[in-house]
Amino acid sequence: MNLKIALLPGDGIGPEVTAQAVKCLQAVEENFGHRFRFTEAPIGAVAIQRSGNPLPDNTLKLCKQSDAILFGAIGDPRYDNDPDARIRPEQGLLQLRHELGLFSNIRPIKVFPTIMDLSPLKKHVLTGTDMVIYRELTGGIYFGDKKLSDDGSRALDTCEYSEHEISRIAHLAFKAAKNRRKKLTMVDKANVLETSRLWRKVVGRIGESYPEVQLEFMYIDNAAMQMVLNPSQFDVMLTENMFGDLLSDVGSALGGSIGLLPSASVGEKYAMFEPIHGSYPQAKGKNIANPIASILSAAMMMEHFGLKEETRAIVIAVYQAMKNHIVTPDLEPKSKYSTEHVGEFIANKVVDSDELFNINKENIGLGKSTII
Ligand code: IPM
Ligand code: MN
Repeated sequence: MNLKIALLPGDGIGPEVTAQAVKCLQAVEENFGHRFRFTEAPIGAVAIQRSGNPLPDNTLKLCKQSDAILFGAIGDPRYDNDPDARIRPEQGLLQLRHELGLFSNIRPIKVFPTIMDLSPLKKHVLTGTDMVIYRELTGGIYFGDKKLSDDGSRALDTCEYSEHEISRIAHLAFKAAKNRRKKLTMVDKANVLETSRLWRKVVGRIGESYPEVQLEFMYIDNAAMQMVLNPSQFDVMLTENMFGDLLSDVGSALGGSIGLLPSASVGEKYAMFEPIHGSYPQAKGKNIANPIASILSAAMMMEHFGLKEETRAIVIAVYQAMKNHIVTPDLEPKSKYSTEHVGEFIANKVVDSDELFNINKENIGLGKSTII
């Protein structure tokens, strides 16, 4: 397969982790006979510094001309602590999601058995956790009207959803549930919000055409609590933009490290893959950031193009690194392995499939129950 892949490494540790994911994709290229063409472009704080624009025209153009986008991270402390900053790195990412119509953000939450001890939760609570969050990504309060009064003493953010925006992601979530454990939890605040009541109505109606999927509704406050008390009850979770942002961070903490979780943002025409973690500026340039979330995002990219063996090869290679303790210090504080070491090891394992003998390949895939 020929693929044009846009690389947007962005800020903080983005470039370091993205470089490791690229190594793994190159290993896939060699091992499976594909041709991937990588082109890099600036976004976020890096782009503001260079051109004053967090999403330069050429970056957007490159994304529109590519088959897929691999995104690193966005954000810089210089802007975080300045509420008056008119231009912010995050605007680049939000505009990109909007311009490319990436309405569906898919975030699988899994717990890796080898690092369960790192989790803030007890092992018996955690066991069996394997869920996917479908977060609406181009609507709601993120993109509604915003206002600040002239005297700066009142502000307004509007949350708006249309039936169309709800139904297109709902169908994706139901289809995912159908291929998994057949349970869909729709999370909202329908006891308070009009938009949530619309979500319930639309999702309930769509649910009738997926009779094999058990649909339940849960309020956001309860869902946040349930994810901590009993995370294994969830299979597919469907929710709006802001709630999905909050719950996916809760989910990322369950496994003990935010450095492991990938995501895909998918629209009708374009698809972008990025780690859930942020730019982690404290670790920038230190070669200590965990590259696994970025590498698994590359695996999700392979899965998106239907390349099942390739996806498995990357996921198994990650599993091998963890099993062999070739991990960054966030997972094992005494580890002497760097971002590059871990990336190198995993990329080599993608090429070398000798160690696959005792693994049940059928269970390996990012959207399904996996060995990890
Ligand atoms: C995420 C991030 C973004 C979001 C920020 C960087 C705008 O937190 O992808 O979850 O809020 O969507
Ligand atoms: Mn977030």
